[in-house]
Amino acid sequence: MKASLLRTETIRAGNNLRKKPPGRAARFSAGIRARRSCVAARLHDSRRRVRLIVGVDFSESARLAFERCRELPNVHIIQADLSRPPLAPRAFDLIWSEGVIHHTPDTQQSFSSLAPLAKAGGKLYIWIYSKKVSSPYRLARKLLRKSYLLPQPALYALAWTLALPLHAANKIREALRATKIHHRLASTAYSFYDVLSPEFMHSHSRSEVTEWFRSHGYEQLHFSGETSDIAVCGTKQ
Ligand SMILES: C[S@@+](CC[C@H](N)C(=O)[O-])C[C@H]1O[C@@H](n2cnc3c(N)ncnc32)[C@H](O)[C@@H]1O
Repeated sequence: MKASLLRTETIRAGNNLRKKPPGRAARFSAGIRARRSCVAARLHDSRRRVRLIVGVDFSESARLAFERCRELPNVHIIQADLSRPPLAPRAFDLIWSEGVIHHTPDTQQSFSSLAPLAKAGGKLYIWIYSKKVSSPYRLARKLLRKSYLLPQPALYALAWTLALPLHAANKIREALRATKIHHRLASTAYSFYDVLSPEFMHSHSRSEVTEWFRSHGYEQLHFSGETSDIAVCGTKQ
């Protein structure tokens, strides 16, 4: 999973919010692994425009996100399972779930838990893996099906070990000008860790996702063309 690309997608989806009167929107962010890109950039960036931001993660990441956001008066972080969110339905202008629900036991069921939280006219944005995408990372996960059972230090070591040959290949492609991307070893290792660590990892098709949105009363679906995975924003009728 490419973090910078995901962030771009999110900002694009969030652009719709800027058309609303400033200071009136409420956002809900599901699954907020407390990385710099997520909390510091996205939530901090939002603080002047958005009245209320609620971030949910069921892991210890919620604690770290809480620490990082404690200075932001409009940001509230809760540790909870998004399949049973302790939040009122129709409370939010934007539900934003990026790289999360395909890591739950049942992606569609998690979608169904998030969908009711948006108000009429509100938006739901999700980013999930597409069935059509293949990559060395996803191939590694396919081959090492139970990698998530490894203790964390072993998982880190495995991620770095797998990253080394891929990084070397990437550097050769860079030298041959076969790619414009400047690859970093740490990002490659992180991408391996990202696919090897979650217990659940599902991929979906656009038609499945369209059906999920429609069946929960969302229309005006905008699929981003900037990712080969599925990044889509719908508006609740
Ligand atoms: C791959 S990370 C992506 C997070 C974030 N969008 C980012 O880019 O950093 C997935 C996150 O979803 C969280 N998560 C997975 N299942 C969840 C659930 N059922 N309820 C709440 N959070 C969940 C994990 O703890 C993890 O922090």
